[in-house]
Amino acid sequence: MENIILTGDRPTGRLHLGHYVGSLRRRVELQNSGEYDKIFIMIADAQALTDNFDNPDKIRDNIIEVALDYLSAGLDPNKVNLFIQSAVPELTELTFYYMNLVTVSRLERNPTVKAEMQLRNFETSIPAGFFTYPVSQTSDITAFKATVVPVGEDQLPMLEQAREIVRKFNATYGEVLVEPKAMIPENSVCSRLPGTDGKAKMSKSLGNCIYLSDTPEEIKQKVMNMYTDPNHIKITDPGRIEGNTVFTYLDAFAKDSDFEKFCPDYKNLEEMKEHYKKGGLGDVKVKKFLLSVLLQELAPIRERRHEFEKDIPAVYEILKKGTMAARAVAAETLNEVRNAMRINYFDDEELIKSQQDKFNK
Ligand code: TRP
Repeated sequence: MENIILTGDRPTGRLHLGHYVGSLRRRVELQNSGEYDKIFIMIADAQALTDNFDNPDKIRDNIIEVALDYLSAGLDPNKVNLFIQSAVPELTELTFYYMNLVTVSRLERNPTVKAEMQLRNFETSIPAGFFTYPVSQTSDITAFKATVVPVGEDQLPMLEQAREIVRKFNATYGEVLVEPKAMIPENSVCSRLPGTDGKAKMSKSLGNCIYLSDTPEEIKQKVMNMYTDPNHIKITDPGRIEGNTVFTYLDAFAKDSDFEKFCPDYKNLEEMKEHYKKGGLGDVKVKKFLLSVLLQELAPIRERRHEFEKDIPAVYEILKKGTMAARAVAAETLNEVRNAMRINYFDDEELIKSQQDKFNK
């Protein structure tokens, strides 16, 4: 069996460091690992519309932002297939058929949907499209016969739901679909990078994100204002590492070689943490170190972005090519699905003949 990856993002804003450590950086590694036969990366605009249906321009404008973030992070259109979800209508058709294979109560029990409903204050007036997006997500995955779906931990219930739908389909209509496996970040820091204010998650609405496209000045300002240990007032005070955002970021980004380069007083992060805990290490020094580490990581990304920004039509062309190729694959699966579901009336000569025989009798 081929190794196939499908994953994607909703285009509701520029991508930030949370996306980067949680998924983007990993995707680039997977792309370069040579272990995968095909990699599909989808800009999930149709899914984004399920809770932004009244703001289509927001989605429209963010398609290019996400595409630029992908390319500048190092995704290579010669190695991965970048495409736009709504431009593959086969996905919508699959969703309609899969809808029969899942119950309303099962969808209501999906913890991801539950949490997101609360987040959006949807309790009483949830759009049906949003409610059923796990089904649409199953179409995204199965249309490409993906075996591996790299996602954040919060998406695990989605994957379980997809696997259930696949099993139900195959048991009812015959073995057509492939059961996908989730791949979650192995490093727990990377599954959820906190916001610069120390809140659990980076989120645009909280204004606590560092974006991949931020300027060095913006990054500096955000790092120097980052949440640390509120009780670490004097440099000589002992400091706390747990819940200290600066150290959480260092866990996600700092390599031993960075100490040699930017902060030779310490060999590695452990030594720096020990000193901070004991007292005698000031926040400013730690923040400056983090700033150097982040600037080093983000500089090549920002430079690549500037190059791609010079030729926006070429970026749309990349998406268009990727979308056409994705459509061809999805259409193939849809064909198999239609055959298995016995709704392939016009391309089944046997059917037409046997119906004629029936009436001749
Ligand atoms: N739900 C994902 C997100 O919010 C985006 C997405 C849509 C996706 N379809 C998918 C991810 C299929 C993995 C597989 O970022």
